[in-house]
Amino acid sequence: MKKTVLVSGGAGFIGSHVTVELIQAGYDVVVADNFSNCDRTGYEGVKKITGREDIPLEVMDFCDMKAVEALFGKYPIDAVIHFAAYKAVGESVAQPLKYYKNNLSSFLNVLEAAQKKGSFVLFSSSATVYGEPDSVPVTEATPRKPATSPYGNTKTICEDILHDTVKASEGRLKGILLRYFNPIGAHPSALIGELPRGVPNNLVPFITQTAIGKRECLRIFGNDYPTPDGTCLRDYIDIVDLAKAHVYAVGRMVEGRMKQDCEVFNVGTGRPVSVLELVNAFEKVNGVKLNYKFAPRRAGDVTAIWADPTLANTEMGWKATRTVEQTLKSAWEWEKHLAGK
Ligand code: UFG
Repeated sequence: MKKTVLVSGGAGFIGSHVTVELIQAGYDVVVADNFSNCDRTGYEGVKKITGREDIPLEVMDFCDMKAVEALFGKYPIDAVIHFAAYKAVGESVAQPLKYYKNNLSSFLNVLEAAQKKGSFVLFSSSATVYGEPDSVPVTEATPRKPATSPYGNTKTICEDILHDTVKASEGRLKGILLRYFNPIGAHPSALIGELPRGVPNNLVPFITQTAIGKRECLRIFGNDYPTPDGTCLRDYIDIVDLAKAHVYAVGRMVEGRMKQDCEVFNVGTGRPVSVLELVNAFEKVNGVKLNYKFAPRRAGDVTAIWADPTLANTEMGWKATRTVEQTLKSAWEWEKHLAGK
């Protein structure tokens, strides 16, 4: 029997790539999205890539418990992957209530419905829960630090909510927390990718938009950090590699291979890359010159963080496979596709 996976926020950047990988791995997928932060490009792209016209799409808001209950009543949901959330760090500082209300209540609704139905839950957490770590790389046992933004805090709180609910359910609810490092790139088909609204906050969309001429100049925030070249170090993970981690995690849940009722995995490469290295690699692999300058540090940025992905490698059997160069090529192909070039 085919298993069914509900993907909340399934039309977004990560959600669309995960939907493709799940369908290609043989799962039935229900996409649910309220299109508050994306248009239909992702969903239409998924249909083209998979050749499937029949992927159910539910346009709904996960803060609406009646709609969530109706959704769980309509489909035989074996597992739910929860992406539906606001994600702009700066906006969350300016509008904390918007973030706490949306990101927490949608997750609470999903958990309540999943517990009732007996569905597994996969929550999209973030390396942001480690804050500025005392040592790198970070393992899943590295202590979490207080979040530096309301957005980050919603990730920490949702992790705690899942742990507590699983514990109290005495085996009726099981879940996995995936802590993403920095997801970048696009599907090799260039049919889906990141579509930031307005001025991008994240580095790679800013790089590609500068290279295509949408932005005048990339600012590199800080070149006086205590790192080899003075710029911050991150663990950039290819979006397709990241999406595949979800297929491994869902398989582990629905095929009964979990070793604990609530498991946590880092999803990263284990490879630190500086901002300057990333910029240089982008120029080299795509043969373009990037207009950039050094600017003051950005508030809230950590100096260096990268994953120790050993647990995901050994326990889930998942490993990142793509090079930074391959990923930066895919990001550029996507930007060109958007520009019709
Ligand atoms: N950067 C620049 N210029 C830009 C944008 C980013 O120099 O225009 C630098 C940042 O200073 C940082 C690096 O590029 O050193 C990466 O920045 P991103 O914004 O792409 O990613 P972050 O590491 O800040 O973001 C990650 C996750 C978020 C999470 C955040 C918490 O992607 O989901 O950590 O700090 F909220």
